[in-house]
Amino acid sequence: MVTVSRETELAQPLAGPSRTLRATPPLRAAAPAGDRWVGAAGLPGLPVPVPAEGANAPAPASVSRETPGAAPAGSALDAAERADRAAGIPAAGADTPLAQALARDARRRIALAGAEFAKPMRTRVLTVANQKGGVGKTTTTVNVAAALAQGGLRVLVVDLDPQGNASTALGVAHHAEVPSVYDVLVDGKSLDEVVVECAAIPGLSCAPATIDLAGAEIEMVSMVARETRLDRAVTAYLQSHELDYVLIDCPPSLGLLTVNAFVAATEVFIPIQCEYYALEGLSQLMKNIDLVRSHLNPDLHVSTILLTMYDGRTRLSSQVAEEVRSHFPQQVLRTTVPRSVRVSEAPSFGETVMTYDRGSSGALAYLESAGEIAERGARGQT
Ligand SMILES: Nc1ncnc2c1ncn2[C@@H]1O[C@H](COP(=O)(O)OP(=O)(O)O)[C@@H](O)[C@H]1O
Ligand SMILES: [Mg+2]
Repeated sequence: MVTVSRETELAQPLAGPSRTLRATPPLRAAAPAGDRWVGAAGLPGLPVPVPAEGANAPAPASVSRETPGAAPAGSALDAAERADRAAGIPAAGADTPLAQALARDARRRIALAGAEFAKPMRTRVLTVANQKGGVGKTTTTVNVAAALAQGGLRVLVVDLDPQGNASTALGVAHHAEVPSVYDVLVDGKSLDEVVVECAAIPGLSCAPATIDLAGAEIEMVSMVARETRLDRAVTAYLQSHELDYVLIDCPPSLGLLTVNAFVAATEVFIPIQCEYYALEGLSQLMKNIDLVRSHLNPDLHVSTILLTMYDGRTRLSSQVAEEVRSHFPQQVLRTTVPRSVRVSEAPSFGETVMTYDRGSSGALAYLESAGEIAERGARGQT
């Protein structure tokens, strides 16, 4: 049976503003001073009064008619203006889920436009791990990193997967001759020699992975301090670079590369796909984290869990979400990331969804997730 996802339906009306939004200036430049992220709670549920006739100001030329009242992502709006515009979005009847979803996304767009994130108390190093493949590790790493950087923070992505998918999504070259994380781990190069700035997103940089990294696990087996090589490199790098976040994208295994990531980080960030097998393998992951904590890195802990590829129409998704939340009430972010065509398309253009289609529901979810992460970081709740 062929089913059409909600996201596919939504993608059509959103296609217009997306190309317009790409041309807008970076969020940071336009954000009003002191306009800090206030968290995602309550946004979707805001009561929306039905406006008086004519109360809906005509949308600016750069905004499509599908997002009435929405401002371009980079525009500076003060809180009162945002509230005004959000109130101008007509309430949709309970029997029109598509209109409701569009109105909700339009409100989220307005609420998130120009959001700046608070700095964490100290540099946070998060390893994005889950030994299952295809659960959204790379997608989460690059999009959360991009969202944090767009919110004014300085972020480094370390691509630790030989596939180099994170490097691709960030538009960073990673063919065989490029200096990469392999040179850091195997040849002892400094991260300084391999890190490159991501052209599309100021404040975001990346240590790319080349296919050489596939051999690194075997080459490192006989090396001295083989588990701590990445940690040393990251620690040295942080001494001469002021960063707010380091996100390490792990391969789908629990081998030596992932162990290096666990030793280099203090926090583990686990994306969990809302599918039937989601929790299988999680206990193995937790056991490995415990092992690394007791032998190599006493500070390591799971701080953040994000539910990805959530499909609100299926009972399975909500059951998985409920179960994960009951096991990890503190760690699971309130935001869930929906299945989104735009999210999966973005890497083929060498982009994150945060620049490819910043107004799409997937990008909004990643922006809200980044907001929650930053909020916790600023409160020292890590
Ligand atoms: N929210 C999403 N909506 C749609 N597709 C997604 C989403 N998140 C990830 N994907 C797609 O799922 C596949 C696996 O995601 P990826 O991030 O590469 O997983 P991992 O790094 O865990 O192997 C990719 O093709 C990616 O584009
Ligand atoms: Mg990956």
